[in-house]
Amino acid sequence: MVNLKGRSFLTLKDFTPEEIEYLLDLAADLKAKKKQGITGNSLKGKNIAMIFEKPSTRTRCSFAVACNDEGGFHEYLSRNEIQLGGKESVKDTARVLGRFFDGIEFRGFSHEHVEMLAKYSGVPVWNGLTDDYHPTQILADFLTLKEHFGYLKGLNFVFMGDGRNNMANSLMIGCGKMGVNCTIIAPKELWPKEEIVQVSRGYAKDAGSTITITDDVAAVEGADCVYTDVWCSMGEEDKAAERVALLRPYQVNSDVMKATKKDTSIFLHCLPAVKGNEVTEDVFEADYSLVFDEAENRMHTIKAVMVATLGE
Ligand code: CP
Ligand code: NVA
Repeated sequence: MVNLKGRSFLTLKDFTPEEIEYLLDLAADLKAKKKQGITGNSLKGKNIAMIFEKPSTRTRCSFAVACNDEGGFHEYLSRNEIQLGGKESVKDTARVLGRFFDGIEFRGFSHEHVEMLAKYSGVPVWNGLTDDYHPTQILADFLTLKEHFGYLKGLNFVFMGDGRNNMANSLMIGCGKMGVNCTIIAPKELWPKEEIVQVSRGYAKDAGSTITITDDVAAVEGADCVYTDVWCSMGEEDKAAERVALLRPYQVNSDVMKATKKDTSIFLHCLPAVKGNEVTEDVFEADYSLVFDEAENRMHTIKAVMVATLGE
């Protein structure tokens, strides 16, 4: 029996395949209930801090709506409204917030900061994105894949673009854990860190899948899902020109979708999208693009994470 009470959600590395499956099933259940107009009381009397050092539409709204749906209260704390790692150390802020709040969401730059919040606050901490990982996004992506294909294990998943960003890292880890074959197609300059590739390959070996890193766009052949993300992540805006030059050949366009040689392939993107860069307008708007189902699933999966780790 899976029990995640009191746990933080910092990266999928910390969760077994069974625990990830449990969160996906719980999200599907909460989603079905919400569609019938049924919401819960699991977070009644719970106070949630939502720290955002970087902007957000989906993640912020997911935590807020999910918290409201379950009867909790949330407080939004932006970068300029809180002492975190500036005037006050992260360790001290963590110990203060832990005295006030029952759970803390953190979106920011340093992954070390979210780890310190979890270590010193004494309450569940949920990673809403750091420079290195974006684990709640993967739950939404996998729920969308499961809804569409009915299963995860054995699917062929291709990520094209900046192979060293938070999305590529978290997708590799998630695919490895869940037995999804993962191919990262990126120019060599933007390949993921060897350490994360090796860790993901270890999970994939246990689950019976493969992790492939290549700069060859033809490797998209056989993909059930083609995924991309912005070429310049938040905080890297000064790299825009360099990234466009490097990544132009890695744009997801209709030729790339045809090169899957499958007429059942879908397109996903964590959003926000820069159309004309990583994806063309026609692919984004195509029937096989499930990006808005995926965006909606952020809310149901984030609700599952809060209910599982903090809910009554
Ligand atoms: N996908 C995602 O995290 O979106 P936001 O940046 O809008 O939260
Ligand atoms: N890699 C992107 C993801 C946005 C959801 C970023 O960090 O900006």
